Amino acid sequence: MKDDFFKYQAQTTPHPLALEIAHAKGSYIYDTEGNAHLDFVAGVSACCLGHCHPKVVQAIKSQTNKYMHVMVYGEYVQEPAVAYTKLLASHLPKNLETTYLVNSGTEAIEGALKLARRYTGRSELIAANNAYHGNTMGSLSVTGYEARKSAFRPLIPDVRFIQFNSLSDLEKITKKTAAVLLETIQGGAGFILPKNDYLKEVRRRCNEMGALLILDEIQPGFGRTGKLFAFEHFDITPDILVVGKGMASGLPVGAFIASHKMMATLQEHPKLGHITTFGGNPVIAAASLATLKEVTESQLITYTLEKEQLFRSLLVHPLIKEVRGKGLMLALLFEKVEIANYLVLEAAKKRLILFWLLFEPKAVRISPPLTISEEEIKIGCMQIVYLLNAYQ
Ligand SMILES: Cc1ncc(COP(=O)(O)O)c(C=O)c1O
Repeated sequence: MKDDFFKYQAQTTPHPLALEIAHAKGSYIYDTEGNAHLDFVAGVSACCLGHCHPKVVQAIKSQTNKYMHVMVYGEYVQEPAVAYTKLLASHLPKNLETTYLVNSGTEAIEGALKLARRYTGRSELIAANNAYHGNTMGSLSVTGYEARKSAFRPLIPDVRFIQFNSLSDLEKITKKTAAVLLETIQGGAGFILPKNDYLKEVRRRCNEMGALLILDEIQPGFGRTGKLFAFEHFDITPDILVVGKGMASGLPVGAFIASHKMMATLQEHPKLGHITTFGGNPVIAAASLATLKEVTESQLITYTLEKEQLFRSLLVHPLIKEVRGKGLMLALLFEKVEIANYLVLEAAKKRLILFWLLFEPKAVRISPPLTISEEEIKIGCMQIVYLLNAYQ
């Protein structure tokens, strides 16, 4: 199967990890030779309830028994999407009451950018250096990492960049700005948290200038940081919230969320201001509903912060310079790129799944399922410390 993988399936790098998968359950992925791999990555923060959570699987099965795809987004009344968007609104501030469901994180960013331009009538978009927002042309345009963009220029015009956490850069937000787009916690850059009152100051400046604040919570959303959404830690509310990844605990999905008034602008001038065939798909909406119910009705979010403390207490080693991040969105920072590479690759041989961050080569990601047990955390951390002790 591996030969065919390299021959027929398009690759993203010349050196994928190429683990051959048989099945997955809970915190473990099983390869075709029957080995269990402890998953500290969760499909890059996507499988928030672990692999094949029984409630999510059940929701998918019951929905597929009824119907799968009946119409393009927004025309027919389909219970899973209606129930999901209603429940989501009940967990969000009043101005985030209307959800537009799409198929991926990057598509949700595209929708949010279009909505901001359409609603404000302005074109300028401001994003942050080292931000990652996805890989389609619009999202790439607001991604703040030139090395991954230059080959694809020209991108969309009227985009400016600010330094995340720099208060002086906020002057760049003016009355020409349609929206400021930030990750609530910068992911690809190295799990960088907003400092002090940074997000409050961004919010204040946006209000002053009449610019919208869009927060990308595609990675930290749905309980990963110890709150349902990470912005709740910082005492602010965005005008548009963008989510994805963990939302359906392993199925492809995304959404952008705003006020009813703002969303209504996508209905007229032009009509069909944003459309999608599969957005709001009933099977995926049913999985999203089961995920949201489980995340909010269980103690998972509370335990997330306890599990963070367990990781922090176990991952103490002279080679680990810092454990960055919040909740179960953690990154180990090393002095040298080689140590990060060594750890990811050697851990893979020991059947512990770790992974890199996009733009910070000295970091190793730890973003396990929120359902991971204390025992599993201890097993994985012991392995990490053992490998770091063996590093020459
Ligand atoms: C913060 C952030 N925004 C956007 C995206 C893009 O999401 P997707 O890969 O579903 O298009 C990602 C994916 O890693 C992300 O982490």
